[in-house]
Amino acid sequence: MSALKTVDNSTLPLDTLKDRILKLKKEKNALIMAHYYQRDEIQEIADFIGDSLALARKAADTDADIILMCGVHFMGETAKILCPDKKVLIPDMEAGCSLADSCDPEEFAEFVAAHPDHTVVSYVNTSAAVKAHTDIVVTSGNARKIIESLPEDEKIIFGPDQNLGGYINSVTGRNMLLWPGACHVHERFSLEKILNMKKEHPGAKILVHPECKKPLQMIADKVGSTAALLDFAAKDDAKEYIVVTESGILYEMRNKCPEKTFLAAPAEDAECQCNECDFMKMNTLQKVYDALLNESPEIEVDPQLAAKALRPIERMLELS
Ligand code: 13P
Ligand code: SF4
Repeated sequence: MSALKTVDNSTLPLDTLKDRILKLKKEKNALIMAHYYQRDEIQEIADFIGDSLALARKAADTDADIILMCGVHFMGETAKILCPDKKVLIPDMEAGCSLADSCDPEEFAEFVAAHPDHTVVSYVNTSAAVKAHTDIVVTSGNARKIIESLPEDEKIIFGPDQNLGGYINSVTGRNMLLWPGACHVHERFSLEKILNMKKEHPGAKILVHPECKKPLQMIADKVGSTAALLDFAAKDDAKEYIVVTESGILYEMRNKCPEKTFLAAPAEDAECQCNECDFMKMNTLQKVYDALLNESPEIEVDPQLAAKALRPIERMLELS
């Protein structure tokens, strides 16, 4: 097997590295997709940026030969399940997700088996093995709509994010059984520090991702997925916002609304004034270049597992 190539771009100006990526992308008919939590310079060179729902939709729809998914592993896996014939690359195979890891497939299967009369709804932040035990996949952008489309007396298991599940229970009046999982990034926001920020910026509206704990959801002017928070800020008339989700989203918020001020909410334990997902930030421009050059690391999903995981993802796309 030939050794992976890497060209040392460390001394290149950033613009030259970006140009090389764009040239390579064209030569290979590759589509570069990026989640809103990616580094600014990656969002800048991406063909498409979006939330988890938009990324899944775009992957299902592309005619590119290669998809380079700049995000975390489950996002690449979802793209591969939707496009088994395409080469799906991610910049760093180690870029995982604490929320997906909080749901062990075997334990989840036992939980599902113990409640045979329940419909199983899983957040997209899960492994293919968990999706294979699921009836309908949801993202934070469509969870409410999909749950409301189910009969009111339907018994539902919702996993793995207990904060998103609790939020959906509260706004729909359902009583879904919740798997006790969570995202370490969204759980470490500090209510006290955010309330102090609000005192200093009384006109600022508070935007909160539903993966945050309930007390934060309760002080929010808007609870929503990354795309929903962006949309709210673009249409709303306030001038300042405190943004309670991973701080990568500020790049697109500032792009879309250059006249507004977006303040990153701080984490409980962080010394810095923002809250970053270390997994998302593992991807760098150099790794994007190397992935395109080597066509590696490549996401592979066992075809039998992929077939089982595909159906609940397709149901999501049909219902949302
Ligand atoms: P959305 O982009 O769907 O809001 O998801 C947030 C998230 O945590 C992705 O890792
Ligand atoms: Fe996973 Fe949380 Fe990072 Fe999103 S922010 S990728 S849910 S660990």
